[in-house]
Amino acid sequence: MSTSRKMAQAEVPAWQEQALRFRTVRDASMSTINTQLPDLSGDKQLARVIGVPRLHLTQAEVHLTESAPEVLVRSLAVGRVTAKEVVLAFLRRAAIAQKLANCVYELLPDRAVERAQELDDYLAQNGKPSGPLHGLPISVKEHISVAGRDNTAGFVGWIGNTSRDDASIIKILLDAGAVIYARTTEPQGLMAIETGSNITGVTVNPHNRALTCGGSSGGEAALLALRGSPLGIGSDIGGSIRLPAAHCGLYGFKPSSGRLPLMGVEAFCTGSDTIAPSIGPLSPTLEGIKLFMDTVLMSKPWQNDPFIHPLPWQSRADHLRQRGKVTLVVGVMWTDDVVQPAPPIKRALLEVVDKLKSTPGVEVIDWKPFQQTDALEILKRLYHPDGGKAFFENLALSGEPILPLPAWAVRDEPGIEPLSIKGVWEWTKKRDQFRHSYFQAWKTIAPDMDVILCPACPMPAPVHNTSRYWGYTSLWNLLDYPAITFPVTRIDPEKDGQDLDYVPKNDSDRWCYDNYDVHERKYAPVSLQLVARRLEDEKLLQAAEKIQQEIGLPFVDCLA
Ligand SMILES: *[C@@H]1O[C@H](CO)[C@@H](O)[C@H](O)[C@H]1NC(C)=O
Ligand SMILES: *[C@@H]1O[C@H](CO)[C@@H](O)[C@H](O)[C@H]1NC(C)=O
Ligand SMILES: *[C@@H]1O[C@H](CO)[C@@H](O)[C@H](O)[C@H]1NC(C)=O
Ligand SMILES: *[C@@H]1O[C@H](CO)[C@@H](O)[C@H](O)[C@H]1NC(C)=O
Repeated sequence: MSTSRKMAQAEVPAWQEQALRFRTVRDASMSTINTQLPDLSGDKQLARVIGVPRLHLTQAEVHLTESAPEVLVRSLAVGRVTAKEVVLAFLRRAAIAQKLANCVYELLPDRAVERAQELDDYLAQNGKPSGPLHGLPISVKEHISVAGRDNTAGFVGWIGNTSRDDASIIKILLDAGAVIYARTTEPQGLMAIETGSNITGVTVNPHNRALTCGGSSGGEAALLALRGSPLGIGSDIGGSIRLPAAHCGLYGFKPSSGRLPLMGVEAFCTGSDTIAPSIGPLSPTLEGIKLFMDTVLMSKPWQNDPFIHPLPWQSRADHLRQRGKVTLVVGVMWTDDVVQPAPPIKRALLEVVDKLKSTPGVEVIDWKPFQQTDALEILKRLYHPDGGKAFFENLALSGEPILPLPAWAVRDEPGIEPLSIKGVWEWTKKRDQFRHSYFQAWKTIAPDMDVILCPACPMPAPVHNTSRYWGYTSLWNLLDYPAITFPVTRIDPEKDGQDLDYVPKNDSDRWCYDNYDVHERKYAPVSLQLVARRLEDEKLLQAAEKIQQEIGLPFVDCLA
């Protein structure tokens, strides 16, 4: 070995070598796809790359990959297309998406193609599909375990933690006929609402690569927006499904906890019960969200997992009952009174409310924010009752440095402090009192209100490294209410300029105000959020569907 080589080795910290070894595995998983990937160097300068993949695919591949999941399963079920041709098209498109947005943790081409072949053989022999998702490719956020693959949960020091078993949700989807073919990126230790780690680097927003795709399920959202996946699974403890879905123009659903199984979903804080995490689907269509929930709940997951409420999924029952002339009462929360929504979010709310007001059967009322500053204080204590200690211990396993956004989320945000056991009890009691008060307020102020319509984020996709406020989504984790984000429109440079007369009310508000510039946010999708009470998941999806159909959402198709 030459002297210079020795020196180079000494200079590279061991954690970087580990990360590099991982990226070699990822790149190898792409190179085994039997296709010549196009040279995309010329597209590197492009901000908006949504339309790029279709330029490099065959017409048949474009057709398959741009089909909605509910359409694909119908074609697959009758053998109009084979599982193998579908998964090959998605593998190729996912490999292109990786080059454009850095959203793939690794592809699983060998097992996916083998599985697809099995499914094709099954259909040929039995004349019927193997299950409701027969042949549908599904992508998975990395920390949801896949047997035989590493599960890092975003830490370099976890590289080499190989999962012995599939997560429960993966088993259910495989039983229903799905093909697991891609694993997607997440931020360092999962603790950011953007997606950058020392393992995979930064995942960008395909609508405008100067913007974040959101996080922590950002790899899923970027891959789905590029149609490198028809349906994906993310996880959400403060907005991690809903924010990336909102920033990328997709539907993202966080169910109530206890509806979908968490076994095999790993994180450094697994076992903490102070704020309930959920897993859930991200999809280019609302039908895809329903397909996912219908299928998983049809398997009666409570028969295998004591954590799951034994509640059959009542998707066919009518949850929006007639009361006089009204079937749906929508409460609009225009602001949370801590951070003002930026002009495009306000405009989206106004446009939706305007249409809802002239929809027969729908009543629109105002819903005032309820003790949001208290909610934020409780959340800060209960996310990291150890003051961030465990997070740093997991960084120390490899020696990787902390990145700025996780540092904000686990250490620097004012109010984060290590608690004694008694302190954890006190703050958990405050959580329960808050849940109780919110419920009482709903009951007494607006007993007929079915759902709350509100922002998902105070602004469309932020510029990289500036996402610091998630109070519009984390509130519903504190309450454990089901919530869905959905695309409404796209940012408009003419209409959405900064309100120059506005004076920010506090530090969070100032941070968001100062970081909003309509010209930087070019092409960004604009989304909103709909929320129902705990365990009213089916009702929420029905309300979302009714609103979508009645007023014709989205007003602009951002994925086109
Ligand atoms: C992964 O590996 C690290 C280091 O050995 C360990 O501390 C951590 O608990 C492991 N995680 C899981 C889910 O096994
Ligand atoms: C890891 O962290 C360092 C320091 O913050 C950063 O400069 C580097 O780009 C990161 N590595 C990757 C692969 O993102
Ligand atoms: C934000 O502003 C409101 C209204 O001025 C205030 O009550 C609240 O304490 C502030 N919250 C934060 C997190 O700074
Ligand atoms: C965000 O900050 C991290 C750490 O400083 C850096 O590695 C990363 O490249 C930054 N992201 C972008 C897109 O600039």
